[in-house]
Amino acid sequence: MDLKAEIGRLKRERNAIILAHYYQEGDIQDVADYVGDSLGLSQEAAKTTADVIVFAGVHFMAETAKILNPEKRVVLPDLQAGCSLAEACDANDFKAFRALYPDHVAVTYVNCSAEVKAESDIVCTSANAVKIVNSIPKHQKILFAPDKNLGAYVSKVTGRDMLLWDGVCKVHDNLSKSKLEVLKLMHPDALIVAHPESHPEVLKLSDFTGSTSEMIRYISGSSWSKFIIGTEVGLLHQLRTVAKDKTLIPAPTHEHNSCACSECPYMKMNTLQKLYDALNTLQPEIVLDERIRERAKLPLERMFALS
Ligand code: 13P
Ligand code: SF4
Repeated sequence: MDLKAEIGRLKRERNAIILAHYYQEGDIQDVADYVGDSLGLSQEAAKTTADVIVFAGVHFMAETAKILNPEKRVVLPDLQAGCSLAEACDANDFKAFRALYPDHVAVTYVNCSAEVKAESDIVCTSANAVKIVNSIPKHQKILFAPDKNLGAYVSKVTGRDMLLWDGVCKVHDNLSKSKLEVLKLMHPDALIVAHPESHPEVLKLSDFTGSTSEMIRYISGSSWSKFIIGTEVGLLHQLRTVAKDKTLIPAPTHEHNSCACSECPYMKMNTLQKLYDALNTLQPEIVLDERIRERAKLPLERMFALS
């Protein structure tokens, strides 16, 4: 069976849209109607007129699409495709944490469950976190969850003191500062770009820090020809199309794996076959408690208003 052709046929039959994150495998990105970062994907999900959203990404992303589209069917090719950040932030623990600091505004990274969003004041993504924090009055105390690396980065850029939840993205936090230094010595003519989920020590070495779509914009618009890429290796698929003429080197991880590049194990749970199956059976479907959904929508709408 020609999976790509069958996916195209089923997509038309079901009036479905395929949204894919940059970290999905190349074949999935190629059949998607839209490929983007977390912010772009949530904006696409908010405006689609399709009946079915097939979310080729991780659980919190598909959940966000469902929060915005209660009347649509949202399917995720593999329901187990989670995220270490979402896993690090249990909703009851978060509620208890908030109760300790009732005078703090809760800015929550979109990489969390619908239940945590429901307990938050405003959501952000890596593309707009600085803007969202800057929009909060200077006297207002802030707590930030669940990514301590992104939180520390935003705190440094905005100059705001923020209480940080202790969570990390296990992919970006695994980028190795010492190996990166060695790589830079081997390629002194390369610029280092890194995602703000990376460890502060890695970000200190980077020439540019930004979300996945910001990295693409920066690299494709730059006159520089060699870059070390500090993020999940799936981003290289898009970069190879928009920045064909540039040399792209994945940043190394702590592990001694053969290619030494970083793959998100959750993102890579989705496959083209599972995507086909999801379109065919319209399962596994994202289902949300309506009260949670309504409460989780509010902090997302606040984010959209500022984006
Ligand atoms: P962005 O999509 O905001 O760049 O974040 C990357 C990421 O790790 C998503 O899970
Ligand atoms: Fe979560 Fe990191 Fe994977 Fe993104 S790359 S889904 S933040 S574990």
